[in-house]
Amino acid sequence: MVEEFQGLHHRHLFVLLFRLWFFTMDRIPRMRLKLLLVFAASCFAAALADTDPQDAAALLSLKAQWQGTPPSWEASDPCGAPWDGVNCSNSRITFLKLSSMNLIGTIDGIGSLVQLKVLDLSSNPNLTGPIPRSIGELINLETLILTGCDFKGSIPAEIGNLGKLTLLALNDNHLSGSIPASLGRLSNLRTLDLAYNELTGSIPISSGSEPGLDLLFAANDFILSNNQLSGSIPPQLFSSKMNLSHILFYANNFAGEIPETIGLVQSLKILRLDRNQLGGSVPGSLNNLSSILMLNLASNRLIGPIPDLGNMGDLCYLDLSNNSFDASLAPPWLTMMESLTTIIMENGDLEGAVPESLFNLPSIQTIKLRNNSFNGTLTLGRINTQLQLVDLENNHISKLMPENSYTNSIWLAGNPVCYSSDLRSCKTQIQEPAPYETSSRNCGRECKRGMMPNPESCACSYPYTGVLHFRAVFFSDLSNSTIFKSLEEELWRQLLLTPGFVSISRPEFDDCDHLDVQFRLFPSSGTSFTREEVIEIGFFLSNQNFEPPHEFGPYCFIMSDLYPFLLDPIGRRSLSPSIIIGIAVGCSVLIFILVGVGIYAIRQKKRAERATLQSRPFASWRNTSTKGSGPEPEIKGASCFLYEEIKKFTNNFSEGNIIGVGGFGQVYKGILPSGEIVAIKRAKNGVMQGGLEFKTEIELLSRVHHKNLVSLVGFCFDKGEQMLVYEFIANGTLTDCLSGKSKIQLDWHKRLQVSLDSATGLAYLHEHANPPIIHRDVKSANILLDEDLTAKVADLGLSKLVPNVAKVHISGQVKGTLGYLDPEYYTTQKLTEKIDVYSFGVVMMELITGKKPIERGKYLVRELQLAMDRSKELYGLEDLLDPAIKKEGALIGFEKFVDLALRCVEQTGVNRPSMRTIVMELENILLKAMDMNPATAISSFLESTSSDLHHGYNYPLSISGTESHTFSSSDVYTFSKTIEPK
Ligand SMILES: *[C@@H]1O[C@H](CO)[C@@H](O)[C@H](O)[C@H]1NC(C)=O
Ligand SMILES: *[C@@H]1O[C@H](CO)[C@@H](O)[C@H](O)[C@H]1NC(C)=O
Ligand SMILES: *[C@@H]1O[C@H](CO)[C@@H](O)[C@H](O)[C@H]1NC(C)=O
Repeated sequence: MVEEFQGLHHRHLFVLLFRLWFFTMDRIPRMRLKLLLVFAASCFAAALADTDPQDAAALLSLKAQWQGTPPSWEASDPCGAPWDGVNCSNSRITFLKLSSMNLIGTIDGIGSLVQLKVLDLSSNPNLTGPIPRSIGELINLETLILTGCDFKGSIPAEIGNLGKLTLLALNDNHLSGSIPASLGRLSNLRTLDLAYNELTGSIPISSGSEPGLDLLFAANDFILSNNQLSGSIPPQLFSSKMNLSHILFYANNFAGEIPETIGLVQSLKILRLDRNQLGGSVPGSLNNLSSILMLNLASNRLIGPIPDLGNMGDLCYLDLSNNSFDASLAPPWLTMMESLTTIIMENGDLEGAVPESLFNLPSIQTIKLRNNSFNGTLTLGRINTQLQLVDLENNHISKLMPENSYTNSIWLAGNPVCYSSDLRSCKTQIQEPAPYETSSRNCGRECKRGMMPNPESCACSYPYTGVLHFRAVFFSDLSNSTIFKSLEEELWRQLLLTPGFVSISRPEFDDCDHLDVQFRLFPSSGTSFTREEVIEIGFFLSNQNFEPPHEFGPYCFIMSDLYPFLLDPIGRRSLSPSIIIGIAVGCSVLIFILVGVGIYAIRQKKRAERATLQSRPFASWRNTSTKGSGPEPEIKGASCFLYEEIKKFTNNFSEGNIIGVGGFGQVYKGILPSGEIVAIKRAKNGVMQGGLEFKTEIELLSRVHHKNLVSLVGFCFDKGEQMLVYEFIANGTLTDCLSGKSKIQLDWHKRLQVSLDSATGLAYLHEHANPPIIHRDVKSANILLDEDLTAKVADLGLSKLVPNVAKVHISGQVKGTLGYLDPEYYTTQKLTEKIDVYSFGVVMMELITGKKPIERGKYLVRELQLAMDRSKELYGLEDLLDPAIKKEGALIGFEKFVDLALRCVEQTGVNRPSMRTIVMELENILLKAMDMNPATAISSFLESTSSDLHHGYNYPLSISGTESHTFSSSDVYTFSKTIEPK
């Protein structure tokens, strides 16, 4: 019996104890009851802990080793509190993310957190000591990021046991020793980043049963740069089975020849072998790499002819400087590279004339050919305006034709042409154009020490400062604001900051040809980021979730200044030791009593039933729903499916059945035995919630039935899976309709109808669901159209069900989708139904314009507000109108519709109409539109007058299809009828 108890999860144990408590109440004398209650209360506080005891102990021991843990770590329960940076799933700690926390100490004992999937300790420059061998026990680990710390010693071979690992980033530490061959067993690894350490030895390759890096067939990036690796680059490392995009081996001591086999890796986009001691001639097979975008072989000892790279039609950036290639004319293929932005061939032996057509390559930005032997006349014909710099210093050029043309950026010092001339090009100090820098409009405002004005609103706050360290960029013009503005935009967009709350400064190439870009992020509200936000920013960047514009290539992220955590709460303290001891003693006593009574009581119960109860919280639901009796949870109409059943419905979760993918996992189409088609949402690992929350969610969802809401057919909580089964809606999302992806055309009437339908669904959620439900993720992608084009709102409550990492990574609280987010909610985090109203207003604007809420960096809301001119016809919005409705001519009710949409997106919630008001106004608009369209109105009218005449006339408002909303024609509409459950 006792053994059985040990096997149970402590939370389940508690449920059991709770039941026993009531069971024993009657049997215990009243006098003792009070005493027992006191024990019970204290016991509940401590024992309802959400964290598995083993994980809690492991984390506490790490905490004891560390200085600088977040203040939230003073609470008693890591999962329950929760502690900053700790995420749990079913009471087990699965994520530990502590980027940029300024932790001090070592990580011994990390191996006890055996359920960890993600470990990010990046940018903690005072985390030190060796990486413990016990790290090899974290066999569930998928992401391991120890970038930018002070770890020393060798890389433990045990890391090779982490078979699920996809990202291994140990870069920027002080690791020494050689690369363990066991890393070759990481068959799922996509990124291996060991850059900037002190690693020695050669690259391990497999032999016999010994693994090696040549077995990493899933790998996309091999990043070994800036170490002291030596030996030759083994030919066995490369094969046609490899899927590498990026090989970054630069700045090591590799010797020998470039292996011929590298030409087999057809997927290769970036090859950097520069800054080694590679010799011999370049193998001809290199020219097979036709997808390559960036090639850098500079600063080696390469000999023989300059390689023919004529097949690399997409090549953007080429550096062959500082080698010992044979003297030759400029290679003819060079002038045919349409994508080349950058040619660097310094310190070589190129001779003859500089080809004139080089200056007119379509993408060219930089040509660096100093210290070669070009001679004769330099003829400048047509020059591409993007060309920023031509460095031809120290060649043998004797004449410039035409003289004084384009002299600003042509450097000719050290050529014979300069001996007797004072051309501007001959001055040694010609300035390069200034690199891009975010303009902070003259804010005229001084900020307190440490604070800075953000470039968008000039408000003072403490910025988060870091450096993005781009390892192989495809461009070289650092003055081009288009490129850097797009980087800024991607930063605020992907990090969910307020538009423009990012500044960039000092982009510059370092001496390893890295482009370092310093950036500052400004908090959207208040003066400071919270710890949770800092953790998420650090994780987002070091986990490589951030995708910079494509020409920036692979990067790594280093935090530059420690963040001043001013918002750390002061008051949160743990319970004093004496109270804890008191609780512990109390608990022991109580548990002892209860267990004693319990053992006696439970003997009477059937074992099987109990086992089911503990292992499957939904078992009773299934029983009751099949038997159709019992008082257990209210889940009207939603069935509980077993994993095996769902598997059958979806044809074994076959790829062909996938109809959608999102942050939460995949959506499958399925067919129930009844023939009903359903959509099944399957949560992937990492986004699942605890059983209890899932249960609450289902109870909530299953109570909601309305014809403008997608209804829940059932769910599955079995075999560690969480799935929701919805009715299948045939015509897809409103987004697809508006973008033309789904071939369904919506005319103005239908758009009015769609907005009315979805508003009705939302009004039902706000006013008639019990308890009221705030959707929190209203967007056109969550509005589905059935075969009659009736709109149904989908995904209710899912924002709560799915802690979508991508969507909510800045704040644990704010949920929703960028572009639809209510700015007030974003700043106050106060949840009211007006956040749905805001998002709905954005959807209305999509219906008008056919545009996405954010398109090319422009906010639809703002664009519309700016373009508004009420004195003009169609409010002057003609240019913004969706062409599909523009051609219709008269859009009756358009202005009213726009007015309503604008009220929905008012800054403050109280100024926005309620969903009920919106429904009424939309009805009005639709009615008017129909009145003035006699054909539709009259025929509909005739169809309906024969039936159900109640308060005057009933107008069927559905334009197409059989189902109709009915309401009275009087001026005061009561819509409770339409928004009542079916
Ligand atoms: C943390 O590391 C920095 C340099 O990386 C060092 O200057 C500082 O003294 C360290 N602080 C502590 C408390 O060890
Ligand atoms: C340029 O150099 C080449 C080879 O060194 C030589 O043959 C040629 O005559 C030179 N041309 C001029 C115009 O000096
Ligand atoms: C800046 O870069 C963009 C995109 O690469 C390009 O289209 C534009 O012409 C460049 N602008 C200048 C002034 O070179």
